[in-house]
Amino acid sequence: MCGIVGYIGARNTLSVLIKGLKSLEYRGYDSAGVSFIRNGELTVIKKKGKVKELYKAIDESGYNLSESGKNSISAGIGHTRWATHGAPSDENSHPHLSMNGKICVVHNGIIENYAELRSYLKKKGYEFSSDTDTEVAAQLIEYYYTKGGDQDFEGSIRRALQDIVGSYALCVLCVDFPDKIICAKKDNPIVIGLGENENFIASDIPALIEYTRDVVFMEDNCILIMTKDSIVIKDVHGEVVDYEVSHVDWDADAAQKGGYAHFMMKEMFEEPKAFEATVAPRIKDGDIYLEHFPCTREFVSDIRSINIVACGTAYHAGCIGKYLIEKLCRIPVTCTVASEFIYSDPIIDEHTLTVVISQSGETLDTRNAMREAKNRGSKTLAIVNVIGSTIAREADHVLYTAAGPEISVASTKAYTTQLGCVYLLALKFAKTLGTITPEKYTDYQYELLEMPSKLKRILDVQDRIQRFASSEFNAESIFFIGRGLDYYLSMEASLKLKEISYIHSEAYAGGELKHGTIALIEDGTLVVSPITQDELAGKMESNIKEVSTRGATVLAIIPERFAEREFSCNEKFIIPDCDELFAPILTALPCQLFAYYMAVNKGCDIDKPRNLAKSVTVE
Ligand code: AGP
Repeated sequence: MCGIVGYIGARNTLSVLIKGLKSLEYRGYDSAGVSFIRNGELTVIKKKGKVKELYKAIDESGYNLSESGKNSISAGIGHTRWATHGAPSDENSHPHLSMNGKICVVHNGIIENYAELRSYLKKKGYEFSSDTDTEVAAQLIEYYYTKGGDQDFEGSIRRALQDIVGSYALCVLCVDFPDKIICAKKDNPIVIGLGENENFIASDIPALIEYTRDVVFMEDNCILIMTKDSIVIKDVHGEVVDYEVSHVDWDADAAQKGGYAHFMMKEMFEEPKAFEATVAPRIKDGDIYLEHFPCTREFVSDIRSINIVACGTAYHAGCIGKYLIEKLCRIPVTCTVASEFIYSDPIIDEHTLTVVISQSGETLDTRNAMREAKNRGSKTLAIVNVIGSTIAREADHVLYTAAGPEISVASTKAYTTQLGCVYLLALKFAKTLGTITPEKYTDYQYELLEMPSKLKRILDVQDRIQRFASSEFNAESIFFIGRGLDYYLSMEASLKLKEISYIHSEAYAGGELKHGTIALIEDGTLVVSPITQDELAGKMESNIKEVSTRGATVLAIIPERFAEREFSCNEKFIIPDCDELFAPILTALPCQLFAYYMAVNKGCDIDKPRNLAKSVTVE
């Protein structure tokens, strides 16, 4: 979704803003803009399209954009917009200026009562030049700024916020206060980057990481007053509040493509390392340690049910978690899409553990679901990738995935590491409850520790997937079918394909196809079938036979031990052997590679697929 950057300091502000916006491109956007104060004048430059169009427009306006360029700007903010209210256009791009040109605003989130505020302001004589909800914020701040005659920049923002209903990360410049940026936050992230005689703001860490590792994650309902050498955070009443400085140890290169054609490719190649970093440090001396999470017998025995909530890929990791926990721990588990959970009147109480899974830690649906679960008395555990993100901070307990920054919109290494965490959790609970034998507990830890080298072996032969994709990329519709864990994995494989290649795809339980969907199978329909579960392999052979006799082309993804087995498929992709319970960790990678190569062959925008955003902060 939208991205925000802001800077005050001696560096060339325009260069910092443009670089920051570029590093936030992965969040998904359709227009970009900057505004800055220079020699007491407020300038706005904004453009529909990519950051490079904005760069061109700034350059053509005669501003120096080189990193070493002299800085004559006292404060600057920038924005990438993902349209919600009003089509993508120059006018609707942020920043938005107030009518008298003194106040300038960039905003992430949605002002829900914008129509009401807009007509109120219109009656007061305000004219609007865009269709956005954000412009209302700029006008409203100006209204309060000029109203009393005391021109209180901070006070006018605080007053405007009393009228605004909705969610926001709001950054505001005022021409009368050329050395200041004021931000307000509710339900949308703002990270403050601390430097020496310079300070930064951004909606996500990659925009800051080149300059500083010391960051402050702003809390909801707070206002930040930032100058080059100070930050002050206040609550809605104007009282100064304490903040905590976090140190981010992400490698600055991690947010760069590093020679790969796309971030998605790079991130798939990082899976062995990311999985190892997530799992290995938590396995010591034959036991599993989940830091900050009490796995005492007393705590775990008190849990009568587990409720997993997440969205998209994270939801699919949750489905695997449900299967594992029920199998290994015999605790009933529900796994629900977060946006549905909130309205489902869920049956949960203080004996429920709610596990929320999120790469970004900012997904609004997931956050709302977690809050709902908390309100109903549930304990909460968050499996999150972004340190200090809202979900991580609001959950009772956190298990971080160690995927590092994931830039590509299509989630790959985050999924594999989320699986790493759900396996650790299921095994630890089973050990604590005594539902697993000590031998199996030990064997399964080895299985996890061996995954990185097996993932590497898959990457070594990824050209086989590439070749298959090159011959099939014209497919109009692709079905993924599997049983048991392979079905849950198929759901993720299908999502990955759809989101980046735009090919219609569905995932079905192998046995379910014949209840209707098989009517869609015709000559040449492509069916991909992971078959990794011993007990279910025979049944899956019947299911792929059903589709191949109706003309389908079938790719089977199978473990080494099935290599010699007869399957009614046109092509086999063989993954390393492992205990069948752990197969999804390996099967995911060829499915991601398949989606990637299909999309590359079709010439799609791999890292920034159409209509999608990396971090979805609207309901
Ligand atoms: C993954 O490829 C998707 N882009 C998407 O489904 C994503 O997993 C979902 O929006 C949840 O995001 P989160 O993990 O940051 O909460």
